[in-house]
Amino acid sequence: MYISIAIDGPAGSGKSTITKKLAEQLNYNYVDTGAMYRALTYNFIVNNLTELDEEKINIILSNTTFKVYFDNFKQIVEVNDEDVTDKIRTPEVSNYTSLFAQSKNVRNFLINIQRDLAKENNVIMDGRDIASVVLPNANVKIYLTASVEERATRRYKELLQSDSSLKIDIEEIKKSIEERDYQDKNREIAPLVLVDDAIKVDTTKYSIEEVVEIIKKIILEKVS
Ligand code: C5P
Repeated sequence: MYISIAIDGPAGSGKSTITKKLAEQLNYNYVDTGAMYRALTYNFIVNNLTELDEEKINIILSNTTFKVYFDNFKQIVEVNDEDVTDKIRTPEVSNYTSLFAQSKNVRNFLINIQRDLAKENNVIMDGRDIASVVLPNANVKIYLTASVEERATRRYKELLQSDSSLKIDIEEIKKSIEERDYQDKNREIAPLVLVDDAIKVDTTKYSIEEVVEIIKKIILEKVS
């Protein structure tokens, strides 16, 4: 039996940075489900689809080859034989991903791929519905969160780091995070929820290293 750790939480709560570090330290595969939703969204945009039209989504999905694999524990996502792993982090893809993540066809397309990855490896998987839908029997369930101001500040710093000449309005980032939160928490299928058996960790006042230590301790207590 393989071990599964579920990490859920809203945008900017530190999930991917923290989950990546935990995976490295525990030697688990880091499964980034957000990247899968982003990759499908990228493909919808390339196909000029920018609205939630299930019929068109279905047609595009049935003509899409989608591959997820690990290269040295790093998750690679390929759509139609193109490695899109590094192309899916743009604000445009972020905003449309919350829209397409509401699609029944999109979620059905990805859920078995995500479950299969957990059948074959020890995984630490991050997303919005991991503890509630994808891996309800996960050995450990963590819900990461932080205040919206702190999450906007983190995104702001990240964007400036990637390009210091960018003109960014932090209020705009905060608004976009609030919109994504609203869509992710209020959608009909697989919304972001705090399940009863998850441990909530508020990262607002902690450094990345401190959060990694807190969660590692929780995991090791539960699975050793
Ligand atoms: O985690 P990340 O910000 O990359 O996720 C992008 C978007 O994908 C989220 O805002 C959410 O709408 C969607 N998502 C989801 N379910 C998951 C992972 C991501 O709906 N398990």
